[in-house]
Amino acid sequence: MVMTEGRAGIEADQKYEPDIKIRITGLTKSFRVGAQDVVALQDLSLNIKAGEFIVIVGPSGCGKTTLLRIVAGLDRQSHGHVVRQHADPKKPLSTMIFQEHAVFPWFSVEKNIEYGLRMRGVPKRERRATVEQFLGKMGLRDYAKAYPHQLSGGMKQRVSIARAFANDPEILCMDEPFAALDEQNKAIMLEELTRIWSETLKTALFITHSLDEALILADRIVVMTSRPGRIAAIFDNPLPRPRKSYEIRRDPAYGKLSAEIWDILRVEVLKSRGELPA
Ligand SMILES: Nc1ncnc2c1ncn2[C@@H]1O[C@H](COP(=O)(O)OP(=O)(O)OP(=O)(O)O)[C@@H](O)[C@H]1O
Ligand SMILES: [Mg+2]
Repeated sequence: MVMTEGRAGIEADQKYEPDIKIRITGLTKSFRVGAQDVVALQDLSLNIKAGEFIVIVGPSGCGKTTLLRIVAGLDRQSHGHVVRQHADPKKPLSTMIFQEHAVFPWFSVEKNIEYGLRMRGVPKRERRATVEQFLGKMGLRDYAKAYPHQLSGGMKQRVSIARAFANDPEILCMDEPFAALDEQNKAIMLEELTRIWSETLKTALFITHSLDEALILADRIVVMTSRPGRIAAIFDNPLPRPRKSYEIRRDPAYGKLSAEIWDILRVEVLKSRGELPA
């Protein structure tokens, strides 16, 4: 499901710093489960520059989705601050693509893609052009009039990605958006996402369990600890752009960086499984 909101008000009293799009300071989130508090995130701080592509990796249950939901304004933190700069109030500040594809079952593919544009009153002619463009990009042109129950899982996910991109938010939050796609469509979507990001100067946060995806997409890769989620390490990605998946795999920096990330991630995964002390 795609959620959009533009609560410029929460940013209004913050000092304007054009280079930092998202400033996360001392973020802590706990959930009440029965009589217990589950601490999902603990004292996490991170500054994300405007136009930067951040990929977040970490063990299952470490708080990645929780972090993205808070950054996207869909959930409230328990402590700490998240400040986002909203440059153009006419456009949505952020959009989230969820882990599970989620589309409106009562809308056709084209109506799903058009949804955010219609909500913010974009004129019909412009909406049609954008929908056409994204039907093409996502390989869905023959399914414009189809309803979600007539689509495969991967196609539904492409509809929800198209809906998010078409709405043109400043910040794109993506929670394992390609996990349900087959390898071929995933490769095409990775290139498409990189292209849209670089052409439209969006700030992107992307969660994945795939180091391949991380290395193709990221400017910086953030590795989270096992729960409670904190930052274990941040890696700059030195691989030159544009990146083609089959080409960058041959770059010696690719193997070196994946090994360095995996060294840290592996320890956190073992901790999350109780196989190493936390
Ligand atoms: N609404 C909720 N109520 C209670 N606990 C929650 C809630 N949402 C998340 N949690 C807990 O917070 C922790 C972090 O969950 P989160 O979904 O953020 O993990 P994740 O890193 O996205 O995992 P995965 O890689 O499996 O998607 C988990 O222990 C989870 O059980
Ligand atoms: Mg998750």
